[in-house]
Amino acid sequence: MGVRYIGSKARVADTIVDLAGASGSGRFVDAFSGTGSVAAAAAAKGWNVTINDSLPSAVAMSVGAVLGVNDVPFTSMGGYKNTINFLNDLSGRPGFIHAQYSPASASTGAVERRYFTEANAARLDAMRAQIRMWSAGEDITWAEEQLLLADLMQSANRVANISGTYGCFLKRWTPAALRAVELTPRHLSSRSTNFEAVVGDVFDLETTEEDTVYYDPPYTKRQYSAYYHLLETLHAGDEPEVGGVTGLRPWQEKASAFCYKTRALDALTRLIMGTKARQVLLSYSTEGHVAKDHLVNALTEAGHVTVHEIKTIGRYRPNAQASAGGDTVDEYVIEINPVKLSDSAYSADRAGVYA
Ligand SMILES: C[S@@+](CC[C@H](N)C(=O)[O-])C[C@H]1O[C@@H](n2cnc3c(N)ncnc32)[C@H](O)[C@@H]1O
Repeated sequence: MGVRYIGSKARVADTIVDLAGASGSGRFVDAFSGTGSVAAAAAAKGWNVTINDSLPSAVAMSVGAVLGVNDVPFTSMGGYKNTINFLNDLSGRPGFIHAQYSPASASTGAVERRYFTEANAARLDAMRAQIRMWSAGEDITWAEEQLLLADLMQSANRVANISGTYGCFLKRWTPAALRAVELTPRHLSSRSTNFEAVVGDVFDLETTEEDTVYYDPPYTKRQYSAYYHLLETLHAGDEPEVGGVTGLRPWQEKASAFCYKTRALDALTRLIMGTKARQVLLSYSTEGHVAKDHLVNALTEAGHVTVHEIKTIGRYRPNAQASAGGDTVDEYVIEINPVKLSDSAYSADRAGVYA
């Protein structure tokens, strides 16, 4: 993906989708889609997919991950590659990213922010403005716009002067940050994908009795809306009030219940009890707020529970100390097959309870 996203399942996406079995008449619902790595693996295996995330930037990344070449013909623009080339040829045009997130911020405020060099920030501004113009003029479709925004975020990630998230910038420039920002067209599969994309809170997402739903909630206190604030701003192309050393945009409105130790277990059980889906897959970690035994105990009320351990090798960890642990088996997927009222009546009947 080119995105160092906390909790990304890119390395284990196929293993997770395999737990869902063969695609059927229902949809594969990736309800906390992040970068869309799991939705993309499901789409590649023939599932019709639904993507949901509370952050518009994450939904755009996920749309970019699942699209097939036929979904984004860029008819008015002479094709995808021509469109990317046009954006790469633009000269810098200083705007909000330049004013707030490059060293130019020192002339407008008290802090010199070093997320991007001045030249790269001005080019990101120019590209964002151009994508907006195309979208406003209906030269590109919604899916084409999301793909270009996903590409823009990916190219920004490659030159961002950060150590993994936008929670802070580095004081000294990394060699990657000094390279010129450039969009790279991604490989699009030759199929079309049947996908729905929703920006919203997971508790508002409807599922049907035919669906398989995959939940990959945050499991630590790290709030994605704060850690990836700059991707949100690039995606929105807006000019929010930003503050502090890091130039954080207002993020509390998107604060996630799953990030609070005191609320996580309640949120997880409410979520699973509330779904209509025929099969639920819940990713969690032994490093998360809720202990595995507590979670499994709480979820047995919802149906038949199976725990699958997922091997994670060299996955993204936020700091060097954490990486020193090497290979681990701390990620697991809890599979829940909800018990329907009719099933329990049937088994009780067979057991002679109603005889
Ligand atoms: C662990 S990440 C998902 C990673 C994803 N599976 C991947 O491979 O990239 C969790 C995601 O949940 C989203 N999120 C957090 N709380 C949410 C909520 N209440 N409703 C919807 N999405 C939420 C975050 O924005 C973040 O993108």
